[in-house]
Amino acid sequence: MSTTRIPKTMKAIRASLILDIVSETGGPDVLSLDEIPVPTAEDHEVLIKVEWTGTNYIDNSRLLTFPYKRSGLFPVQLPFTLGHDAVGTIVSLPKVPMAHTSLPPLQVGLRVLTCRGSAFAEYMVAPWWQVAPLPEGIDPKEGVAMATTEFTSMYLLRGSYKVKKGDWLCKYFGANVIGTTSTPEKAELAKANGADHVLLTTASSEDNIAAIKKLTGKGVHVVYDSVGRDTWEEDFEVVRPKATIVSFGNSSGPVPAFEPLKLFAKALKVTRPTLGPFMVEPEDFALYATEIFDIVKKGGLKFSIYKVYPFTAEGVAQTQLDITSRSTTGKLIIHVSD
Ligand SMILES: NC(=O)c1ccc[n+]([C@@H]2O[C@H](COP(=O)([O-])OP(=O)(O)OC[C@H]3O[C@@H](n4cnc5c(N)ncnc54)[C@H](OP(=O)(O)O)[C@@H]3O)[C@@H](O)[C@H]2O)c1
Repeated sequence: MSTTRIPKTMKAIRASLILDIVSETGGPDVLSLDEIPVPTAEDHEVLIKVEWTGTNYIDNSRLLTFPYKRSGLFPVQLPFTLGHDAVGTIVSLPKVPMAHTSLPPLQVGLRVLTCRGSAFAEYMVAPWWQVAPLPEGIDPKEGVAMATTEFTSMYLLRGSYKVKKGDWLCKYFGANVIGTTSTPEKAELAKANGADHVLLTTASSEDNIAAIKKLTGKGVHVVYDSVGRDTWEEDFEVVRPKATIVSFGNSSGPVPAFEPLKLFAKALKVTRPTLGPFMVEPEDFALYATEIFDIVKKGGLKFSIYKVYPFTAEGVAQTQLDITSRSTTGKLIIHVSD
């Protein structure tokens, strides 16, 4: 199938075996730029030559200590090639026939985006149905910025809970948005990007809960919580009866175990989703991609690039230090190849 020369080896950024799981200090220093075999695509996979990739919170090598410390959260086998988001060109197509979807068909040489792979590498593989042609007019760096972030947003707002007009959330779909952040500067940025109200996490929990009740009356219809441990209890205070709590991240650590009876008084739903199950069916990914590209075309999504980093162990380590410093806004991009 391939019409492009594929080398036998490639460079990849990996987290090594030397995580210090006792002291929790498995930080960016465990990363290295290694020469490893180019991955062999399975029958259902495309091989992609990666041009641009970007860091997500989950790529933080410190999080890789969790599987050992916290009974199976994000288990990985080490050494492990990090990264999820990529924009690059297809160098080989799957051996199995690709079903028709609402996206244009994949071809060798086509520039695509994906958020499913070991993307901190010169080559990566991904199931063909989790790869979308990058539409004309979208910069590759913007493609990286929209990959995990926008597919996550889309399944959260469409799949985990279907946001409706008037709900207390998500602007583009007509809802009222209350955001939380740690600095006035980030609050201004959130407002400039459509948040109706932004509360500072430096205020007391009681003040913020009271502010949300004052704004909403009965509380919000849905909470999307990526902070985890530090905000979990507040989530139960700010929701209205029959609301949904979507706990989708662990920036401050995983949420504690809880009894179903905790949901009883307000008849709440709690879901702990991840992107993978929302992209099992080829048409699911295609529909999300089509909707995202459509929103971008209509100007409903703006992308901000924080910085472009080199494809070196130091460059990638810096992305991890920066993303966990809470001082960045926008996407942290890594330039892998031209
Ligand atoms: N389930 C999924 O499908 C999915 C998909 C994507 C991401 N996630 C998860 O969502 C979380 C955020 O990921 P992201 O890529 O969105 O990262 P991000 O944009 O960098 O968000 C992290 C932000 O969380 C806030 N935060 C609040 N309390 C914090 C604390 N104690 N420690 C560190 N940060 C804290 C900080 O913002 P402020 O300073 O403004 O408070 C920080 O900038 C991660 O746990 C990630 O794994 C899950």
